[in-house]
Amino acid sequence: MDPSRDNPFLRFATYWWGLGTLLIFAVLVAVVWLFNRSEPTSLEDAAAVPRYETRKKIEAAQVASLSQEEIQKAIPAAAAALLASKPVAIEKPEQIVPGSATAKKIAEAPAVDTTAMDAAPAADEPIDPAVMELGKASYMICSACHGMEGQGGIGPPLAGSEWVAGPISNLIKIQLRGLVGGITVKGVEYNIPGGMAALAYQTDDQVAAVLTYVRNSFGNKASAVKPDQVAALRSEVGKPQVKREELVKP
Ligand code: HEC
Repeated sequence: MDPSRDNPFLRFATYWWGLGTLLIFAVLVAVVWLFNRSEPTSLEDAAAVPRYETRKKIEAAQVASLSQEEIQKAIPAAAAALLASKPVAIEKPEQIVPGSATAKKIAEAPAVDTTAMDAAPAADEPIDPAVMELGKASYMICSACHGMEGQGGIGPPLAGSEWVAGPISNLIKIQLRGLVGGITVKGVEYNIPGGMAALAYQTDDQVAAVLTYVRNSFGNKASAVKPDQVAALRSEVGKPQVKREELVKP
């Protein structure tokens, strides 16, 4: 360094200039922090603030009301309940792994005898209006393919279909398994690629009601389908789409 510049006054001044520069930076940071504090910026953020407060309050209340002894007491009870619980049957066919033991068991399940069900009672038995209401609501999904008036669309018509007025087991099987491979309705051959998918997610009451509705709407007239008849054929769920050769001739 140039010795003429190395004097105590210059050092003194440089020291304070340095300190001053740091101070300016500190002030700048403070200003930025002041104006950039985590104020809610969007409506979502603003709405989240009371949510977090409420959550904090709830959590605090829960912690306060749950004593350690109570938690300890509950553990053996929960463990006993878990040990005593039994596996439940799979109700959703899509949960069954194709080719698995369960899938094989379902596919090989003996066919249910449907003779009694198909020897349907006379159609003049009065139909419960509440069942028709439920059936109409449950028909919404069918209407996407079969039309609001059962006139047909993507799928064949249900109005005047001999299958609809025919044996009950056919209808239950078609709904619980779907249908593929084509079908002749009122003398017209339909073979829609992919066929109809199973709609087995509906409850026994809903399936019975929708089939009763279809059998007694759009000019059709046939006996009601009973929930226990659907229940009797629940073992069909999970089997591949039914083919017309497997159905009872209408
Ligand atoms: C995604 C479209 C689709 C939906 C939804 C659907 N079906 Fe079908 N349905 C079809 C197709 C396609 C066929 C013909 C299958 C074939 O070509 O092999 C069919 C055939 C039928 C048949 C036999 C043929 C006939 O017209 O009589 C019945 C009965 C039937 N469906 C009832 C129902 C009922 C009841 C529902 C509602 C619970 C329903 N379908 C929902 C597409 C559908």
